[in-house]
Amino acid sequence: MTRTVYLNGDYMPETEATVSIFDRGFVMGDAVYEVTCVLDGRLTEFDGHMARLARSLKELEIPCDISRDEWLEIHRKLIELNGLQEGGIYLQISRGDVGDRDFHYPPAGTPPTVVLYTQSRPGLSTDPKADEGIKVISVPDLRWHRRDIKTVQLLYASMAKMAAEKEGKDDAWFVEDGFVTEGSSNNCYIVKNGKIITRQLSNDILHGITRSSVLKMAQEAQMEIEERPFTIAEAQAADEAFFTSASAFVMPIVEVDGVAVGSGKPGSVAKRLREIYISESLKSAI
Ligand code: PDD
Repeated sequence: MTRTVYLNGDYMPETEATVSIFDRGFVMGDAVYEVTCVLDGRLTEFDGHMARLARSLKELEIPCDISRDEWLEIHRKLIELNGLQEGGIYLQISRGDVGDRDFHYPPAGTPPTVVLYTQSRPGLSTDPKADEGIKVISVPDLRWHRRDIKTVQLLYASMAKMAAEKEGKDDAWFVEDGFVTEGSSNNCYIVKNGKIITRQLSNDILHGITRSSVLKMAQEAQMEIEERPFTIAEAQAADEAFFTSASAFVMPIVEVDGVAVGSGKPGSVAKRLREIYISESLKSAI
């Protein structure tokens, strides 16, 4: 099916949406993005994603004056035009088209390039992977040091996923100075003696919108939380492990670098948090 996508103020078939070869996103990876999940035809965590988008734009000084309400209208229109029930909306803003390759930012007033499109993922909330749990490998974290900004510079994340695939595993965890930073496209957690352990927020990791909600829900459910870095050895000796992201919610992890975590089956904390997160997200979706 040909999607209807959004490009710089217009809705059009995906086959007609084209961007300049000089676009800063294409030439320099000079762009930020968000992925907002859609469940039951509605947006989950919309305001969280828009707040992080505004922060990414501000940190990189990319001008964009689209308001929260305008973003909402665009997201909703794409859902409607594409009949999206379950999946997500990808949003990308680049610094625009400079008319040539140049390291310097374009002159003030250069409009950003704004692209949004839907990604249909039927069965997202009932993914059988969540019943089995996934397996991860670890790789050194070779990314830049502003991981709190959600840029499209995803080559290393992509390489990490391919390295995992080559080993017959599902995903990769990044390790820096002996500690896990995050997953290739998610935030990660271990559980030991009932306590949820996850790295604290800093420029070392993306400030996950799902992370923020899941920790709040865990707290409300009287679960103990400790925000600190952990090692691969600690994860391998943990009772359970899981990750969070907008596109997979809470996903149990059952193996780290070839070692089974806990019983080697999804743990009860991850399962419970997944249930709570999906049901709360459905309730608050807009
Ligand atoms: N990835 N860390 C990284 C490096 C990520 O790329 C993501 C999200 C997260 C989780 O953030 P959130 O809970 O806000 O989705 C953490 C998205 C889903 C992606 O790139 O497709």
